[in-house]
Amino acid sequence: MEVMKILDFVTGKTCLAGLLGDPVEHSVSPQIHNTLSSLTGIDMVYVPFRVRENDLGAFVQGIKSANVIGFNVTVPYKQRIMGFLDHIDEEAEILGAVNTVKNDDGKLCGYNTDGEGFVRSIEKETGTTLQGKKILLIGAGGAARAIGIKAAIRGAKRITVVNRTVEKAEGLAEDINKIAAAGADAAGIEDFKKSRAIGDYDVIVNTTSVGMYPDVDSSPLDDMTAFEKGKIVYDVIYNPFKTRFLLMAEKMGCKTLNGLGMLINQGIGAYEIWTGIKVSEEITRGMHEALAKYLENTRG
Ligand code: ATR
Repeated sequence: MEVMKILDFVTGKTCLAGLLGDPVEHSVSPQIHNTLSSLTGIDMVYVPFRVRENDLGAFVQGIKSANVIGFNVTVPYKQRIMGFLDHIDEEAEILGAVNTVKNDDGKLCGYNTDGEGFVRSIEKETGTTLQGKKILLIGAGGAARAIGIKAAIRGAKRITVVNRTVEKAEGLAEDINKIAAAGADAAGIEDFKKSRAIGDYDVIVNTTSVGMYPDVDSSPLDDMTAFEKGKIVYDVIYNPFKTRFLLMAEKMGCKTLNGLGMLINQGIGAYEIWTGIKVSEEITRGMHEALAKYLENTRG
């Protein structure tokens, strides 16, 4: 029986997708996409493509000429890949970064599903939308940009970007204000801490790496006493599952979410673009549980 399964695993009809990056060894995208294929019954395998910088052009040519249905893009190519594409979706263009490419018979189209991954994660895991919400965004890098711009598109009422480097927070707030009516503003993280304005927000999101393994004793904010019960606190980190930041918020009675939901949902967004199917809520939940268990086991 096992041999029969292996015989059927990859056939002449199987389509191929993958992850472009360097390095790619630690990514869990292969686990996400191969599990999705198995759960949705789509005949597709997903593999890592580690490509050196000088080979990016040759890689793109190869993808166009082979029957690869699409690929994800990670560090360090999320911006550079844009110069090789035939079409770029509006949101990816605004973000200035592509994490998903679809191969349409040799024409490559770029998308960014990171912001969508965050929004779907919030909506599915809390049952609320970002419409009319006041959001505190900690950090001003790529993840903050994807989340901030998407939150503005989804009707957030106010977005405050706080960052160690205040100039970057100001730049992101300016860009958010250009694309949507959300009143975005910015502050340095230390000034924000002194202001004690944290209680003004409905959703607080950490997009920095502060608190990520092995830096587990750190938190982007150290005083959470003004956090109120029922508010949503999101950390894009998923190693550990509960950062110090989330543990403090949990103590205050907040609804806490880690970055696993965003990771899975950006993957599902990409999978839907390549295959044209809609992944069900049930499969999404199953994926979430399975990946959490997998990470717990492989972390030792
Ligand atoms: P990503 O793509 O994951 O968002 P990034 O673009 O490198 O990563 O952004 C990292 C973010 O984490 C930035 O906001 C960075 O702050 P600076 O702009 O001041 O560099 C923030 N960050 C990283 N390490 C930090 C630390 N030790 N303390 C505070 N902020 C930190």
